[in-house]
Amino acid sequence: MASQTKYLSLAYVAALALPPQVCKGGKLINFTANVNHFSGPIPISLKNCSSLYRVRLESNELTGDLDQDFGVYPNLTHIDLRYNRLQGEISPKWGECQKLTMLGLAGNSIGGKIPAEIGSLSQLVELHLSSNQLSGEIPAHIGNLTELSTLSLNGNNISGQIPEEIGGLLNLDSLDLSMNRLSGPIPNQIGELRDLRILNLSQNNLIGTIPFQIGNLVGLQDLQDLSYNSLTGEIPAQLGKLTRLQSLNLSHNNLSGEIPASLSSMLSLVAVNLSYNNLEGPLPDGSVFSSSQSSAFTNNKDLCGKVQGLRPCNALSTDKGGGHKDNKLVVAIVAPLASVLFIFFAIVGIFVFTRWRKSRRESRAEFISRRENPFSVCFFNGRIVYDDILKATENFDDVYCIGEGGSGKVYKAEMQGGQVFAVKKLNMHAEDFGIGNVKSFSNEVKALTEIKHRNIVKLYGFCYEGMHTFLVYEYMEMGSLAKILSDEKEAKEFDWVKRIQVVKGVAHALSYMHHDHVPPLIHRDISSKNVLLDSDMEAHLADFGIAKFLKPDSSNWTAVAGTYGYVAPELAYTMAVTEKCDVYSFGVLAFEILMGKHPGELNSMNDGRIHLESVLDTRLSPPTLPSLTDKLSSIMNLALLCIHANPESRPTMRIISRRLVVEADSD
Ligand SMILES: *[C@@H]1O[C@H](CO)[C@@H](O)[C@H](O)[C@H]1NC(C)=O
Ligand SMILES: *[C@@H]1O[C@H](CO)[C@@H](O)[C@H](O)[C@H]1NC(C)=O
Ligand SMILES: *[C@@H]1O[C@H](CO)[C@@H](O)[C@H](O)[C@H]1NC(C)=O
Repeated sequence: MASQTKYLSLAYVAALALPPQVCKGGKLINFTANVNHFSGPIPISLKNCSSLYRVRLESNELTGDLDQDFGVYPNLTHIDLRYNRLQGEISPKWGECQKLTMLGLAGNSIGGKIPAEIGSLSQLVELHLSSNQLSGEIPAHIGNLTELSTLSLNGNNISGQIPEEIGGLLNLDSLDLSMNRLSGPIPNQIGELRDLRILNLSQNNLIGTIPFQIGNLVGLQDLQDLSYNSLTGEIPAQLGKLTRLQSLNLSHNNLSGEIPASLSSMLSLVAVNLSYNNLEGPLPDGSVFSSSQSSAFTNNKDLCGKVQGLRPCNALSTDKGGGHKDNKLVVAIVAPLASVLFIFFAIVGIFVFTRWRKSRRESRAEFISRRENPFSVCFFNGRIVYDDILKATENFDDVYCIGEGGSGKVYKAEMQGGQVFAVKKLNMHAEDFGIGNVKSFSNEVKALTEIKHRNIVKLYGFCYEGMHTFLVYEYMEMGSLAKILSDEKEAKEFDWVKRIQVVKGVAHALSYMHHDHVPPLIHRDISSKNVLLDSDMEAHLADFGIAKFLKPDSSNWTAVAGTYGYVAPELAYTMAVTEKCDVYSFGVLAFEILMGKHPGELNSMNDGRIHLESVLDTRLSPPTLPSLTDKLSSIMNLALLCIHANPESRPTMRIISRRLVVEADSD
């Protein structure tokens, strides 16, 4: 039998060793046995198996020697051996596998150098070599890989300089060189990587200044980490152009001078760390700088600002030098000015205090009827205030309405200065909450604003006033998945690759909230209306943690919070909402994405096998690439598991998200 094998897929089997003669007949094309517990050696027959096209052996416990046990494969497009126990070195022969698009060797014990021949793999899209024991330098030839999208070399012993040729990787999306022994400067050419989304050079011995050209990487999104190096000089003002960046870490270097004020225009930034440098002067205004902990700025020369733990900036306190005359002049001007200011503030203070006392007294008397009620809660991660939002939406005029869900209408609020938010005005008033609940809701929302995940819509804050209750979210240019799927034109542009990406994004978000977030959070209301897409068609899940506050008996809601057609069947007879309810809704959603419409009655799918072709959205032409068909059918099979009637038989989101990563082989 083995001699006839063309496609061998050993999924979900727990066996000891792989069959050694798996390629005896020399016809094996696809060999898939990933994410299992296979141990023992790499099958001996693989060495001369020149028919190989795709090999998926990642996440096992296979042993073997990378240069001894593998040969040259002229047809091989994809080989994933990540997370095994392989030893040996990367032989130059890999350069002869000219069709390779993916080479995954991360998480093994591979030593030696990266051979220059890797640079001749002109079709390579992903090169994963992280977490090994590679040494030597990064070969300059790597710059020839113009198709490369992911380069991960982190967690090795790579030394020498980062080659300037790296600027040739024009399609690079993610560059991770962290945790090595790289020295020398960061090449300016890094500024040529226009598609870069993730940049991590932390924990090396890099010296010199941060090239201002990094400011050209306007697509940087997830991370810019240059921490734990020996970088010097000033932070370039051009970094302010990185308006999509969410996390900036320049800590543990020797950067000096002032923090450029331009950094306050980094509107997406939610985490910043500049500690352990030699910086001085004021923090930039607003945004993340006013909401960070002081630990983000400690151990510098002399930073000041409104962050607790830092000294407040006082223009005169650090004035050093200057002649005697100047000092006298300063005193002459300052002394009278200060007393005038003192008197002014004293008057204002008394006025404010009496107002406060008065309003407290009033508030006890009447609560909800007052427009400016004292229980109003309004907080944001920045400078936005209640009134600005009312102004931007002209008191929630329908002209600004961009969507409507069960819990309320969503408005687009374009603030002065260009920042755009999505404001969800809840269909509920103070009475719906009850006074005690306002506090618990606002505490909960405060916690939700801390959530930071690439596939979760950022919640900036919550406003509760007698008149209006609304949530302020990150604005998503492309709107909801429901909208796209219902629009003929947009649905056609939403191709299979994008759809797979959206399924993965939602799975990652749910896996994170169920398994990595403390405390774990259940969404309860996943539907295509709650999946929003940004301008890159990346999925972001909205309204996490909100559904449970919407009172079940309020008129807008059915007995359980959730959208009809997505609610797990067990909720018909139990009120116990578990994370498996989200898994069910995710399964429905995945079908919806494949089919282009809600799958309707799911019972028919649940018993009996269904074929991928009968499911796929007919508005798109069927996938032609086998790898694409593979991915779509594995999504369908996972979705089938998710809609199992018995909650305990459904997989967890962690398993689903991991399967999707290995199946969809990117990330
Ligand atoms: C692979 O082929 C070469 C020559 O064709 C042969 O010498 C070698 O023994 C073969 N190796 C294996 C493991 O079959
Ligand atoms: C740098 O800061 C980011 C965000 O605060 C954090 O996720 C990352 O782990 C930090 N890097 C290192 C090397 O500590
Ligand atoms: C950091 O830079 C300053 C000059 O800006 C220099 O005096 C100091 O020695 C440097 N510290 C380290 C640890 O390199």
